[in-house]
Amino acid sequence: MSLVLDPAAQDLLFREARTANTFTDEPVTDEQVQAIYDLVKYGPTAFNQSPLRITLVRSPEARERLVKHMAEGNQPKTATAPLVAILSADNEFHEELPELFPHFPQAKDVFFGERPVRENAAALNAALQAAYFIVGVRAAGLAAGPMTGFDYEGVRTEFLDEDHTPLMVVNIGKPGPDAWYPRSPRLAYDQVVTTV
Ligand SMILES: Cc1cc2nc3c(=O)[nH]c(=O)nc-3n(C[C@H](O)[C@H](O)[C@H](O)COP(=O)(O)O)c2cc1C
Repeated sequence: MSLVLDPAAQDLLFREARTANTFTDEPVTDEQVQAIYDLVKYGPTAFNQSPLRITLVRSPEARERLVKHMAEGNQPKTATAPLVAILSADNEFHEELPELFPHFPQAKDVFFGERPVRENAAALNAALQAAYFIVGVRAAGLAAGPMTGFDYEGVRTEFLDEDHTPLMVVNIGKPGPDAWYPRSPRLAYDQVVTTV
């Protein structure tokens, strides 16, 4: 009774949403990805820094180059998912800050002039945005299969550059046959929440 979100939406986004390991071959369109992004871009980040970058791996040739950097157990799903996205953190996000945080444009230099500071901030805030993205994929009626089991340096060299740190690779599509393992338990409220 405490949640105001429609119960069907709660199920779609969380209770019935699963991490898919197999997919049908129904395509995922650029329009769907744009709708997902245009929803989740409103999720908050520090200073509105918005460091997430998304690389859609569409061509068979690019897919092949990605699969070889995936951990063995992840290769079949990345080879067969209708769409695969590489999520990365832009360590040079500060270049956009004067536009993204117009009421304090000096933040670019005052807070984010140093690369190690930017890398820490980008890692945290792009990870937050990756979580919003996964929920957005679910909001589109699709399933996401996020993965960190891959060769980071390989993926960075193959698809990104020194200014971008890979975060995760996400398979996206409609779940296929035997798409998931039995649901694993979650920690209970009392195990997680303390009040001081
Ligand atoms: C950041 C992240 C990395 C993950 N990496 C992998 C992976 O490399 N391989 C894999 O099979 N599953 C991976 N998973 C899937 C998780 O094991 C799965 O989301 C979790 O067990 C919850 O499953 P459920 O959504 O079906 O309840 C990853 C999930 C997340 C969020």
